[in-house]
Amino acid sequence: MDLNNGTVKWQSPSNIALVKYWGKRGKQLPQNPSVSFTLSNCRTETAVTYEPSDAFGLDFRFDGKEAPEFQSKIQDFLTAHLECFPSLNRLHLQIDSHNTFPHSSGIASSASSMSALVMCLLDIERMAREEQDIDMKQASSLSRLASGSACRSLFPKMALWGSTDALKGSTDEYAVSLEQEIHPVFKNYRDSILIVSDAKKAVSSRAGHALMDSNPYAETRYMVAKRNIKDLLTALRMGDLERFIQITESEAMQLHALMMCSEPSFILMKPNTLRIINNLHEFRKETDIPVCFTLDAGPNVHVLYPDQHAEMVERFIMDELEQYCFDGRWILDQVGEGASRL
Ligand code: PMV
Repeated sequence: MDLNNGTVKWQSPSNIALVKYWGKRGKQLPQNPSVSFTLSNCRTETAVTYEPSDAFGLDFRFDGKEAPEFQSKIQDFLTAHLECFPSLNRLHLQIDSHNTFPHSSGIASSASSMSALVMCLLDIERMAREEQDIDMKQASSLSRLASGSACRSLFPKMALWGSTDALKGSTDEYAVSLEQEIHPVFKNYRDSILIVSDAKKAVSSRAGHALMDSNPYAETRYMVAKRNIKDLLTALRMGDLERFIQITESEAMQLHALMMCSEPSFILMKPNTLRIINNLHEFRKETDIPVCFTLDAGPNVHVLYPDQHAEMVERFIMDELEQYCFDGRWILDQVGEGASRL
């Protein structure tokens, strides 16, 4: 069916990996499986307005302003995969995107923005084909091609991306939901994101993945990650917080250790990252509260804890950790529901 003018709107959240995807091969395929929490408050909201046109074209605005860097990223992705969106050949798109989290917060926004965009585009395809639903496997697979870890953002609670015999149906092509696999304690887990620096990433994730190709520890890393996936899945099913904490923190440290021993080498933590980690460990030892941390490829610290301990942990963050945050900034977030139509 030929489409007239219209607008579709989707939101998609950011996600934070527990077992990290770091190193890729082929067409944006992971060297090892990864698992993440889907977040709730850190989201991208995207509206795509389409109108009939002789040829495909697009304009992109972020927060109402032109954003050429992002526009060309989208253009490249669509040019490479236009066969997946045949109806776009006869449409001009105006894409408007907005993040619910501060722009320069050091939080990766490509996972949320690319998955929100893919949902909008597949929604347009769905209407053109007069279909009822969007195929979530295809949505995740296209999100992966747009920006690796974006494939995990679509699903509620937790997602796994990458083939492992510990989970039936898992594949390198797209992520799958872990919602039915996990103990209730993880379904409303908290993530407070402590902003140590709001500077742009020192290394883009594209460059970071590429550094793994010559990292002398790469093969060991992929082996350890595969084992961690299995152990983490068991811990997630059982609600084993002790094991969860041990694997999650070890994964964060490994990601940073890999960067430190890459060629060239990068130190992505800041002195305040270490102060936060040390304080958090002391707090955990003193109180026995099962709080832990993870890190992205940057200095900011994700503090993870069960919902029932929110009050104590958040008071501790205010009293002890906020002083190490840039401008005292931290973002309260928690496990959420994945992508949805607005
Ligand atoms: O999806 P990318 O290419 O931005 O890579 C993500 C890498 C990490 O965030 C460090 C780990 C992960 O699994 O999300």
